[in-house]
Formats: sequence, structure tokens, C-alpha cells
Amino acid sequence: MPSIGTGRIWKATRSAPVSWICPFLLGRRLRPHAAVLDLGIGSGKVEERLLPLRPNVRVVGVDASAAMLSLAKQRLKEAQFRLIRHDLNDIESLSLPSAPLQAVIIVQTLHHLPHPKQREVYRFVHRHLEPGGLFLFMDRVRLPAAPTCGNGSSSKRNTRAEKAGNNS
Ligand SMILES: C[S@@+](CC[C@H](N)C(=O)[O-])C[C@H]1O[C@@H](n2cnc3c(N)ncnc32)[C@H](O)[C@@H]1O
Repeated sequence: MPSIGTGRIWKATRSAPVSWICPFLLGRRLRPHAAVLDLGIGSGKVEERLLPLRPNVRVVGVDASAAMLSLAKQRLKEAQFRLIRHDLNDIESLSLPSAPLQAVIIVQTLHHLPHPKQREVYRFVHRHLEPGGLFLFMDRVRLPAAPTCGNGSSSKRNTRAEKAGNNS
């Protein structure tokens, strides 16, 4: 799986909304008619920006929330997409259209799952992506003792919060 994000891109874009960054990273790399899976599609904000760049890709969006899927349906009404209501904690029972996936997107979603379930999602993605497929993953990651980007000030903040018993 090629990596499509770099530290430099992240630095340049970290203040930009995620719904802009993802299409920027993915858009031009997608083939016409490519199949794209979004695990935790939410209200479809990423696809709202991605589909104008690649109008003929086929998106399968998965989310556990009927309310979010309903918002996605309204937002993406002109686009070619299929929405599936499914709990990612049970990823193995997710049944997908048979076309090979050129890309899988998971944005700000995986942190909702416990770590063993996250690992199952990674395995699922690895199994279903076509060879050389694209995996776009963006999320908050908690690394309590590790230095972070920049001057490390957020790492110091984390340590202080942990000492104070705030693990959120
Ligand atoms: C912060 S939103 C991100 C939505 C979208 N990816 C975006 O960037 O705009 C997180 C989404 O994950 C979904 N979600 C949370 N836990 C889930 C689970 N166990 N299975 C499926 N979807 C889940 C929520 O319903 C929500 O739509």
C-alpha cells in the first residue's frame, strides 16, 4: 500500500478542515469509475468535495448512525453512492459490492472503536483493497509519552492532564 500522506503535507494543511484535506490527498489519484469505501462516512462531507473532482467514482459509505446516513443522502443526492448502515465493531459481517476497492477512507472514526476492533478493521481494509490500493486514514491518536509534532507543547499538556487524572 503506498503512503499518500507526508509530514510536509500535514504541516501545510493541519489548519485546513479535514473535508478539504482528504479530497486534496486522494482526488487526482483515483481512476475514473474507481470503487471507494468510506468507513464512518458520517454526513458525507469528504465526498461532497471529492466527487466534484472525480464525479464518476462509486462510493460505498458505511456508518452505524441512521441520522448521519440520512444527512449524507441529502448532501450527496446527485452523486453515485451506496450507503450501508453497519456497526464497524462487527466489520467481518460487512458485505460489500464485489468490485475491487481502489481506495478506503477512514476519517475521524476509528477512535470510537476499542483497539482490538480497530485491528480487525485494518485487516479488513488490507484484504479488500486492490493491489496498490490507497488507504486514507485520518484520526486523533493518543500517544501519552511520545513527543508530538512541533515544539512538543501538546505532549507536555498531555502529561500534565494525566498527572491530574484526566485521561480523556
Ligand atoms: C466524527 S464523525 C466523522 C464522519 C466523516 N468521516 C467526516 O470526516 O466527516 C464519526 C462517524 O463515525 C460513526 N461511527 C462511530 N462509531 C461507529 C461504529 N462503531 N460503526 C460505524 N460508524 C461509527 C459516527 O456515526 C460518525 O458518523
